[in-house]
Amino acid sequence: MADPDAEDSYRAFEPRDYLRQYYSRPQLAADDARLFRSLCDWLRRTGRVFPTALDLGCGPTIHNTFAIAPYALQIDLADYLPANLGEVRKWLNEAPDAHDWDALFRDVLTCEGASTAELERRKALYRSRVSALLPCDLRCPNPLGWPARYDLVTSFFCPECVAKDRDEWGMVMSRVLGLVRPGGAVYFAAVGDAHRYAVLGRWFPCTPVREQDFREVLVRHNFDASSIAAQAVPAPDWVEDGFDHIILVNATRGQSR
Ligand SMILES: C[S@@+](CC[C@H](N)C(=O)[O-])C[C@H]1O[C@@H](n2cnc3c(N)ncnc32)[C@H](O)[C@@H]1O
Repeated sequence: MADPDAEDSYRAFEPRDYLRQYYSRPQLAADDARLFRSLCDWLRRTGRVFPTALDLGCGPTIHNTFAIAPYALQIDLADYLPANLGEVRKWLNEAPDAHDWDALFRDVLTCEGASTAELERRKALYRSRVSALLPCDLRCPNPLGWPARYDLVTSFFCPECVAKDRDEWGMVMSRVLGLVRPGGAVYFAAVGDAHRYAVLGRWFPCTPVREQDFREVLVRHNFDASSIAAQAVPAPDWVEDGFDHIILVNATRGQSR
């Protein structure tokens, strides 16, 4: 059953404000640049092309899965708010009032070690790989409404923003990890050890989480301990906005159920 208080906090979430606060700079914020170097390096090292991928709590953003496009044949994007998915849809449909991601996409390509001349080709590849925009609610036992399984599940700054305390965070993470196929993989970024984050001066709650919390929950859900990497990365651009570091996590699930 969804928690009405948590629902209320996201009723005040404005996709355009969020994009303006975090994703309208001429270049990636320092923590995001670290995130993309880590994500691209991990994707390259896994040497896998995932048949299916899901980004949970994508919000109005697409830059994370833009980086994943060469490594996943089918990418589903899921969020709780229809207005967030609406922003994504606008970009996919090349609507004139869609958010302009080009500057940050060029930075993502640079973090990857690719040429920025690849921009248009990558955008076309990305558009061809996004296969569904899905409503989801991580406060429900079945977040997508059916028992889906994906080869790669990602989530950027979402479960710690959805859960109102650590117990609920554990439950939300169980649901996220339940969407990963045996042998599948995860990549997460989380707001580190913070109680709230700001969107243009409006505060949204967070549950404080640390690297060790991820290690524990992943091992409990049959992820190989030796595959788990969790690191804290400074976020100097967002200190006034409630957090001073983020946590980056990747891991691979064991083959057994
Ligand atoms: C901090 S934003 C992260 C957005 C994006 N992933 C990014 O990297 O910037 C948190 C996201 O969690 C989503 N969210 C809030 N409640 C949710 C729920 N119950 N289930 C799934 N997502 C939820 C919000 O709509 C919002 O897009």
